[in-house]
Amino acid sequence: MEFMDVVSARKSVRSYSSQEVEEEKLTKILEAARLAPSWANKQCCKYIVVKDKAKIEAMASMLNSWLKQAPVIVAACADPKDSGSRNSMDYFLVDVGISLQQLVLTATAFGLGTCWIGAFDEAKIKKLLDVPANVKVVALTPIGYPADKEGFGGKLVKTLVGSGKRKPLDEMVHWDKW
Ligand SMILES: Cc1cc2nc3c(=O)[nH]c(=O)nc-3n(C[C@H](O)[C@H](O)[C@H](O)COP(=O)(O)O)c2cc1C
Repeated sequence: MEFMDVVSARKSVRSYSSQEVEEEKLTKILEAARLAPSWANKQCCKYIVVKDKAKIEAMASMLNSWLKQAPVIVAACADPKDSGSRNSMDYFLVDVGISLQQLVLTATAFGLGTCWIGAFDEAKIKKLLDVPANVKVVALTPIGYPADKEGFGGKLVKTLVGSGKRKPLDEMVHWDKW
């Protein structure tokens, strides 16, 4: 796929088929995340790749029931001390964001679906996945092949937040001054 086609094809997938993700693809997806730039090249981003069915079901019951269909869930984490901060901004969030987006776009290029999940009880996820106290869980995403049909939950979220819509470029971009 051409790069712009990958970027355009990416969308949040909230319904998955039972097809497993090939190890080779998963490795390449994680490799793309590894290559991301980061604050002073500190590479703070760490991933927990969850394939254990019991843990996936536990996460689904904590978060969204549709997650239990996913063959893989990835938790993107970082110790904030392994990155920097400037202008009152913690850059570990940026580091993780860039790395996770590289993961997401690579998954898209392989025909796989993902969905950035930020709404979760961090304490519960940390307990389930044995995450050390100093490490933040920034985001989760399932990785899997999209189901043929989108479920009710996915349709509902898309309608509520208008997922398919983007502001026009002239509302986003200023030229030469604000
Ligand atoms: C930081 C962030 C947090 C998000 N958290 C959630 C979430 O908790 N649950 C969910 O279903 N989608 C979540 N999303 C997905 C957004 O709803 C989605 O990206 C947006 O509606 C645009 O739709 P699209 O991804 O299909 O283009 C999140 C996205 C981002 C970037």
